[in-house]
Amino acid sequence: MLDAQNAPAAPVIVRREDYRPPDWLVPEIALDFDLGAERTRVRARLKVARNGAHDRPLVLDAEGLTLVEVTVDGEAAEHRLEDERLTITVSTAAAVVETLVEIGPRANTQLMGLYESGGILCTQCEAEGFRRITPFPDRPDVLSRFTVCMAADKAVYPVLLSNGDPVGAGDLDGGRHWAEWRDPFPKPCYLFALVAGDLVANRDSFVTASGRTVDLGIWVREPDLSKTAHAMAALKASMKWDEETYGREYDLAVFNIVAVSDFNFGAMENKGLNIFNSRYILADAETATDADFDAVAGVVAHEYFHNWSGNRITCRDWFQLSLKEGFTVFRDQQFSADMGSRAVKRIEDVRVLRAAQFPEDGGPLAHPVRPESYIEISNFYTATVYNKGAELIRMMHTILGPERFRAGTDLYFSRHDGEAATCEDFVRAMEEGGGIDLSRFRLWYSQAGTPRIRAALASDDNGAATLTLSQQVPATPGQTEKQPMPIPLKVALFGADSGTKLEERLVMLEEERAEIAFSGLLERPVLSINRDFSAPVVVEAGRDLADLAFLSAHDDNAFARYEAMQQLMLDTLLRAVSGGPADHEPVIAAVRETLANPALDHAFIAEAVLLPSESFVGDHLAVVDPDAIRAAREALRVALGSALEGQWRAAYSATAANRFEYSPAAKGARRLRSVALGYLLGAGAEDAAKLAMRQFEDADNMTDRQGALTALVNSGAAERNTALAGFYDRYRRDPLVLDKWFTVQALSTRDDALEAVEALARHPDFTLSNPNRMRALVGAFAANQRAFHDVSGRGYRFLADMILAVDRLNPQTAARLVPPLGRWRRFDEGRAALMRAELERIVAAPGLSKDVFEQASKSLG
Ligand code: PHE
Ligand code: ZN
Repeated sequence: MLDAQNAPAAPVIVRREDYRPPDWLVPEIALDFDLGAERTRVRARLKVARNGAHDRPLVLDAEGLTLVEVTVDGEAAEHRLEDERLTITVSTAAAVVETLVEIGPRANTQLMGLYESGGILCTQCEAEGFRRITPFPDRPDVLSRFTVCMAADKAVYPVLLSNGDPVGAGDLDGGRHWAEWRDPFPKPCYLFALVAGDLVANRDSFVTASGRTVDLGIWVREPDLSKTAHAMAALKASMKWDEETYGREYDLAVFNIVAVSDFNFGAMENKGLNIFNSRYILADAETATDADFDAVAGVVAHEYFHNWSGNRITCRDWFQLSLKEGFTVFRDQQFSADMGSRAVKRIEDVRVLRAAQFPEDGGPLAHPVRPESYIEISNFYTATVYNKGAELIRMMHTILGPERFRAGTDLYFSRHDGEAATCEDFVRAMEEGGGIDLSRFRLWYSQAGTPRIRAALASDDNGAATLTLSQQVPATPGQTEKQPMPIPLKVALFGADSGTKLEERLVMLEEERAEIAFSGLLERPVLSINRDFSAPVVVEAGRDLADLAFLSAHDDNAFARYEAMQQLMLDTLLRAVSGGPADHEPVIAAVRETLANPALDHAFIAEAVLLPSESFVGDHLAVVDPDAIRAAREALRVALGSALEGQWRAAYSATAANRFEYSPAAKGARRLRSVALGYLLGAGAEDAAKLAMRQFEDADNMTDRQGALTALVNSGAAERNTALAGFYDRYRRDPLVLDKWFTVQALSTRDDALEAVEALARHPDFTLSNPNRMRALVGAFAANQRAFHDVSGRGYRFLADMILAVDRLNPQTAARLVPPLGRWRRFDEGRAALMRAELERIVAAPGLSKDVFEQASKSLG
């Protein structure tokens, strides 16, 4: 039996350069589960084959397993279980190795391996959870054909699912039954899955391009069945889209999805049996916002797309994680853009990148898209690997254009099908299929840090202009010297008088500096740069407020137009924060014009008139001053609210709710309505709280109801408590909606947010054991810049206490709460010292997991 006491003491650093092919392969595995929540017995029959000429023993990973028996070719075999490794002497080139172990799913609070969630038994194996189920070479370059047999109590676990196709089932004595599944595709063990539970299915089918029928099932607990229609529609749309866009057809006769309430991440792409955090499956108008609906469709698509980008072609080792994740995020972003508003989707994706990845890239946890080392791989499921990784693929798409990009992915899929590949393999396929040299582009995989671009446009009276570009890649931990990166910048020039486009091109900035010449310009040009956010960089273009306002009205690229408005707002706020005179007029004028522009849709307007977040403003300051940022942003919000009160009112009534509909137009209307309501409350309009309360009560959908609740919770209105209590009473039995109740309060902009959060942590509905609830309160609070960075340090202490408490149950969830404390360098000395003290307290805590140790010790850096 392994436990914490004989786990390795000193954290081991795993390095990319140390990769070696596996000593043993396992072409086939047969698993036999005798399932029970308290105790499950797992018999595994491995066909092992020596890989190359060597005499090393067979070493299997094994964590937290009670070992009962080991045989080789049917005979008791010499073996040793030590440091989470089972070493077995095998003298032949091939053999059948059998192990029998016992595990306890109910006691598994880490949610890795086989665990219990709401009475359902389910598995999570990525990245290294399979070793908590049975001894195995738990690495993604060992691919096996799986056969899985399960036996369980039929009343408690009437449904038994695994990967691939069902091949048999029947009853057993004593109220038990069995089922067998076989997956014809060799796969790494991280894609293994099993589910046993009292579930019902939304069943449907899909006919593939070549005419095969696939049976689809979305499995949930009975009361949730009515909330699965949206996920099913998204699944079928994804299957069709992948055929049309990438020529990828589904390859099994069955595709199942199961929703569970306790899950560390969003969802998991196990072959033919995706397992989801229920928040990314369940959606109906009453309980899910439009953002939730979009997230469900995006994650369903993401996991489905993994069937090719991840499963048919998997990763050689975990340093290659972005091979599947970056590519698959790019694919799901393209899918969502095709299904809805391309412009709004890009705005949302860039917002996520800037909120999550840029701070990571500029802090102590910065790492390349293809990392060089790790202590705990779970810590590398990051915004850098996922979202920056997706931006890398997007840049290749931009540079190659859609046809040559597709030629590259076709070559990649055909060349590496059935293999465990590397990021290098992907780039090479793009080069050969797309007919391009990407030698220098590879730097994007190896160099961390967000490049900073300076752009200056100088024009003369003879119609000539020069765009001077320079780049600088900041030093990051372990990488002090950087080389210039190849950066694709979509650039356009607009005529200052006519507002028309004079020029447009894709500029490749290859060196540290470049000058680009333009001629024949008939008016003064205004620069539009990094249109569509063509590269994941920070651009300082030094345009004045007038030019930004001009672009916010005239740029024909929706993203660039949004960006100009954001820059205008940001510059205004930064001036105010640094004590300059607060001139709100240019922003007010630009917002007025945007609100009045009949050519713009509601969804875009809502995004464009929204002020940049407090943390985004903070990211642009040498020393973040949370209170000054709040004050400046609040003043601008109030100014916008009062100056444009008539227009907010008009926008509010023009978007008045009809019966709920999930269409791009209806979503846009709801979005603008909530934004307008927020400004009306900001303006202190007399009737605003009543409007909000009426919206709260009359809403026939969660978007409107939560929008009204948020506005009220941030206000001092008397209606605030009525709305909070009403929301609680209505939804207390729906955990996903109750999560919203916690989050809205954790993100409150009021002065009492910190005390409220401390009190909510003692609320009977708060629990450390459910990752969604943890993130709803504690994760959201850490994103509330002003409350979290309360000068007393109480916010830091609260977070550290939570991290230490959760770490005992679930190290992965605990580790993901650490990064906000690692931002101490960005704050004043007083706050920095308080943050460091909490990190030091965490690192010194006895029995700390390696997950939290890695994040906290690196954060002290
Ligand atoms: N591979 C999953 C995804 O991105 C994420 C995940 C990682 C889920 C680790 C669980 C555990 O689709
Ligand atoms: Zn993924």
